[in-house]
Amino acid sequence: MTKSEPDYAQPVGLDVGTSRIVVARNAERKYQYEAELNAFVTLPHSKLAESLLQRESVFHEVQGSEMVVAGNDAQKFAEVFHVETRRPMRNGVLNPLEPHSLAVVRRIITKLVGRPAVEGQKVFFSVPAAGPDGEGGIAYHEASIRQILTDLGYDASPIEEGLAVVFGELGGCNYTGIGISCGSGLCNVCLAVLSVPVISFSVPRAGDYIDSKAAEVTGELATRLRIQKEQSFFLNGLNGDRVQNALTVYYEEMIAHLVDALRGHISATQRLPKLDQAIPLVLSGGTAMPRGFIDLFGKVLRASDFPVKLSEVRMSSDALNSTARGALMAALC
Ligand SMILES: Nc1ncnc2c1ncn2[C@@H]1O[C@H](COP(=O)(O)OP(=O)(O)OP(=O)(O)O)[C@@H](O)[C@H]1O
Ligand SMILES: [Mg+2]
Repeated sequence: MTKSEPDYAQPVGLDVGTSRIVVARNAERKYQYEAELNAFVTLPHSKLAESLLQRESVFHEVQGSEMVVAGNDAQKFAEVFHVETRRPMRNGVLNPLEPHSLAVVRRIITKLVGRPAVEGQKVFFSVPAAGPDGEGGIAYHEASIRQILTDLGYDASPIEEGLAVVFGELGGCNYTGIGISCGSGLCNVCLAVLSVPVISFSVPRAGDYIDSKAAEVTGELATRLRIQKEQSFFLNGLNGDRVQNALTVYYEEMIAHLVDALRGHISATQRLPKLDQAIPLVLSGGTAMPRGFIDLFGKVLRASDFPVKLSEVRMSSDALNSTARGALMAALC
């Protein structure tokens, strides 16, 4: 094994996210990540097109009269052919309205994790926590992902995404604190004490919500807004630019909603363990990345009483990989 080469026989962490699937592996003295977009496009099948895809090593599969291009290659194809990418998941779980959902997720997961290197190799995979409407298909989603991994030969266990953030970020605090992942379909939250989850929940307002609401009011395409948001958006009040303003309004709404939900869940928990010390709160996920996010989050948090004492509110130093890293750390325990 060279210095940066991962040890393929060790446990694996897998973040099955609404917009990205990330695998984390243990390499000597650091973690290594690989990610694929959780998206696909379909093209009409022809012998010529198929041989071109093969020649260019494009990640694809022929299904009847269609060719399905999945993962990172889907984005390139969508741009070349001016089509929208489709997504196998919505709001943190397999999308029931998308007939290709399970097959595409299986292909992407198989590409990322491969077959186990040793018998009974462990993998921990992220799952969302229940939202305001309850279970929302999580049991089916979890069983489906577990099946994909056991079919490959892994010993697979689910871990809630918020708890994965606690594992990934709060090792230095005895795994006690609040982990939040602001993703694309959901924000997942977990308050854990000594690695035991005490409160876990999700709210269905995150990146996709911001994109679609801002698209609605500006008349732009949601994908356009997403690209602009990821490339140049920062949170610093309204400044006259239509798109920037629309994104700001819905970012502010999302943050207010998340902090409200956090306050509400903690206040409503009757048997909260006695916490002697203030606890840290860590934010991760792509939606927490714009400049100004943490400042606004902190401001909203401080605007009224918070039911537990916080020692710090900080941003993950590797927000897009935090869930996969936490799943790996849980698998290594
Ligand atoms: N630099 C950035 N600035 C703003 N938003 C970003 C940035 N990078 C990614 N995003 C947004 O973050 C979201 C993806 O984040 P992430 O990969 O954490 O989600 P996910 O894990 O796939 O989704 P979920 O956890 O909800 O299932 C998308 O909405 C994307 O547009
Ligand atoms: Mg996520």
